[in-house]
Amino acid sequence: MEKIDFTGRVAVVTGAGAGLGRAHALEFARRGAKVVVNDLGGSTDGVGSSEAAANKVVEEIKALGGQAVANFDTVATVQGGENIIKTAIDAFGKIDILVCNAGILRDKSFVKMEEETWDIVVAVHLKGTYCCARPAFIKMREQGYGRIVMTASASGIIGNFGQTNYAAAKMGICGLANALKLEGAKYNIMVNVLAPTAGTRLTSDVLPPEMFNTFQPELVTPAVMYLCSEQCQDTGFYINAGGNRFFRSNIVTNSGVIIENPTAEDIAANWSKITDLSGAKFFANFMELTLDSGGVELVRPPK
Ligand code: NAI
Repeated sequence: MEKIDFTGRVAVVTGAGAGLGRAHALEFARRGAKVVVNDLGGSTDGVGSSEAAANKVVEEIKALGGQAVANFDTVATVQGGENIIKTAIDAFGKIDILVCNAGILRDKSFVKMEEETWDIVVAVHLKGTYCCARPAFIKMREQGYGRIVMTASASGIIGNFGQTNYAAAKMGICGLANALKLEGAKYNIMVNVLAPTAGTRLTSDVLPPEMFNTFQPELVTPAVMYLCSEQCQDTGFYINAGGNRFFRSNIVTNSGVIIENPTAEDIAANWSKITDLSGAKFFANFMELTLDSGGVELVRPPK
């Protein structure tokens, strides 16, 4: 197997001052990439800012003999996203790789989920991914090459109690990637989704202590390195990674049934056929799904 090498590549990692982002940034540098270490440096619930976190990781990369610059903008505004990508262009002349990783948590049960709690989480995760990915994508399209990894979560793909804001934002990221993979394909831009699990400050009171200690962020990073490599020719995949386990999630669609002149009672009568996922398939795009009618059962022939 050819070694995955990022010599000559420029990588931007958002939220790289701690946890998973730091692990990704260090490994990109070890493998030869020039790295933009972005981090706002606030608390886990998105309050405050500090340059210390990003600066520290830049120093760590330099100590390894690597090249890195810090950026302290928030991902959550268009201006911030543009500055982050501009930092890569100004320092290293281009951007080849973007890992949207920055994140915060504000968990609340839905009854207590007030507007501010909803908005800030959606702003950092979903809008933040848009704000960084768009200026990066524009540059990648011009050069005909790019690799984007967007960090989602099993909380969105599967669901998690008390995280309606976070789950919605993370699943929104999956939708963004589903569509952007199609726009990027002919420019050799692969857009994939990472759903990590790792012991970080974000999960220190979520993961059981045993799991917190064994699920190191560095065990997630190899998946990110592969997804950001030239070797990776897949796009639109949701890859779960954590604690040495790597697996894929996806949305699948079954054939369902065709019901002529349907009534609500027909839906009830055919509910098990409509919902049975055995034999369900993955579709790479909307048209593929719409044009696929093979094997659909006609439960009431036309009159
Ligand atoms: P972390 O708290 O250790 O790191 C997140 C970094 O993002 C922090 O350094 C923080 O300062 C930075 N950040 C926050 N808001 C920012 C903003 N507006 N602009 C720029 N930087 C900002 O957390 P962790 O666990 O490393 O999380 C990384 C990503 O992985 C997040 O998107 C998180 O939602 C996701 N994730 C993590 C899981 C885990 O098990 N740790 C599980 C599922 C998803």
